[in-house]
Amino acid sequence: MEGSWPQQEGWLLGLLLSLLLQGSSTFTQNSNSFTINCSGFDVNGLNKTAFKSVFDRKAFRPVVNFSIPTRVNISFTLSAILEVNAQIQLLTSFLWLEMFWENPFINWNPEECGGITDLTVAAENFWLPDIFIMEFMDIDQTPTQLVAYVNSKGHIKYKKPMKVTSICNLDIFYFPFDQQNCTLTFTSFLYTVNDMLLGLDKEVWEMAKTSQHLIQNQGEWQLLGINKATRKLAVGSSLYDQIMFYVAIRRRPRLYIINLLVPSGFLIAIDALSFFLPAEGGNRPPFKMTLLLGYTVFLLMMNDLLPASGTPLISVYFALCLSLMVVSLLESIFLTYLLNLVTTQPPPMPHWLHWLLLHYLRATDCYKKSQKDNGGPDPKPLHLPGLKEPGVKAGPAKAWLDGDPQSPWEQLDHQQKVDIWVKFSLILDTFLFWIYLAFMTSSLITVIVLWIN
Ligand SMILES: *[C@@H]1O[C@H](CO)[C@@H](O)[C@H](O)[C@H]1NC(C)=O
Ligand SMILES: *[C@@H]1O[C@H](CO)[C@@H](O)[C@H](O)[C@H]1NC(C)=O
Ligand SMILES: *[C@@H]1O[C@H](CO)[C@@H](O)[C@H](O)[C@H]1NC(C)=O
Ligand SMILES: *[C@@H]1O[C@H](CO)[C@@H](O)[C@H](O)[C@H]1NC(C)=O
Ligand SMILES: *[C@@H]1O[C@H](CO)[C@@H](O)[C@H](O)[C@H]1NC(C)=O
Repeated sequence: MEGSWPQQEGWLLGLLLSLLLQGSSTFTQNSNSFTINCSGFDVNGLNKTAFKSVFDRKAFRPVVNFSIPTRVNISFTLSAILEVNAQIQLLTSFLWLEMFWENPFINWNPEECGGITDLTVAAENFWLPDIFIMEFMDIDQTPTQLVAYVNSKGHIKYKKPMKVTSICNLDIFYFPFDQQNCTLTFTSFLYTVNDMLLGLDKEVWEMAKTSQHLIQNQGEWQLLGINKATRKLAVGSSLYDQIMFYVAIRRRPRLYIINLLVPSGFLIAIDALSFFLPAEGGNRPPFKMTLLLGYTVFLLMMNDLLPASGTPLISVYFALCLSLMVVSLLESIFLTYLLNLVTTQPPPMPHWLHWLLLHYLRATDCYKKSQKDNGGPDPKPLHLPGLKEPGVKAGPAKAWLDGDPQSPWEQLDHQQKVDIWVKFSLILDTFLFWIYLAFMTSSLITVIVLWIN
């Protein structure tokens, strides 16, 4: 097909060259046959009739030999990430798509044309490649009336803005510390590999850099990078060329940290600290109830900020905080009930409990005594949060402590029974507080570790 090659080698070499150079070889071969006569352009301005032969062919793919595929080089610049909707799994972004291809029927000699090397021509006059994005889930709102740059060698540059609403597999489990990896696949709508090949005009890192520079606004999403994969797409018996771009974006979590995590953290800390309120006064349940109410209102107000679908870790975290608060409220109600019961009508204590309590109290009492002997400060008995010396005389309890654990419950007087039960309740309170604290710490650490990874 290369006219200048000797006949015998020409066929093989021509085939090789046509495979290597594809579009451009067609162009050189026909450079003379399709020259546009542009004399007078520098004096009279451009004349449409000169391009008539080109414009008349716009219905067909611009190649001389239809066995040769048109090579379209593409690149895009992401100029904005408008919205990421996890509920309907859509990413709305704005991009500028650039396409480059050769039209062998356009060719002129710049010297004859007053030095014109580039022209802008209304794009509707040309054949345009039907490149589309496979993930596109909307009507293409590309404006019409766009123009294309044409140079004297028939190289066409066409650029169009696109608002892309693309489907993307969004995983919001790690919200608000999530990253998303969305795919944009550029392919021809109709032309198979026999007719159209796609190539890259720029390196992907260049595209990513330009895009990052453009998206300098402080929106919710930050562009991390762009990767590409090229593979042919087989649909039925046809093979289509395609270029896949992986667009990695990351959410800026500051808004959510300040509005969701910090207030929630404060509330749960106050809930933990409210264990230090005296258990006997009966102040604790109302306090915790108020806190719970506050937390519920907080959750209601902040509901708009949460993703509407899926179960992100943050929802689990909120549910956990809420359950911790409910459990601590239940605990303080139970304790108030218990204290109330035992101070009015102490029930008989089970033997094993009696025994256990006695041993525990003796152990802590010994500790207290040794502290006293060493002249140390008199510590509060048992170091209970919220423990006040019960409003009863220590005498009878002391006698009971020194007594025999086997001594029958019935032999103790009312005051002693109350005293023992109150001691038991306060120990139980401390015990439950430590369990609560351990559970809270471990679950919060689990959630945080999951988030960090
Ligand atoms: C180009 O067109 C002009 C008239 O518009 C004509 O005089 C000239 O010969 C043409 N040149 C060629 C190379 O056809
Ligand atoms: C454009 O060129 C054609 C022939 O080449 C000529 O007949 C016509 O008058 C020209 N039109 C203008 C506006 O110069
Ligand atoms: C068109 O191209 C094909 C493959 O490159 C080649 O075999 C064929 O001879 C070409 N036809 C013409 C008319 O040049
Ligand atoms: C497309 O890119 C390839 C290689 O990157 C290059 O050889 C070819 O000339 C380009 N084609 C166009 C139309 O820009
Ligand atoms: C995005 O996902 C694709 C596969 O689905 C993977 O090849 C690519 O590395 C991912 N990119 C990032 C930045 O995670």
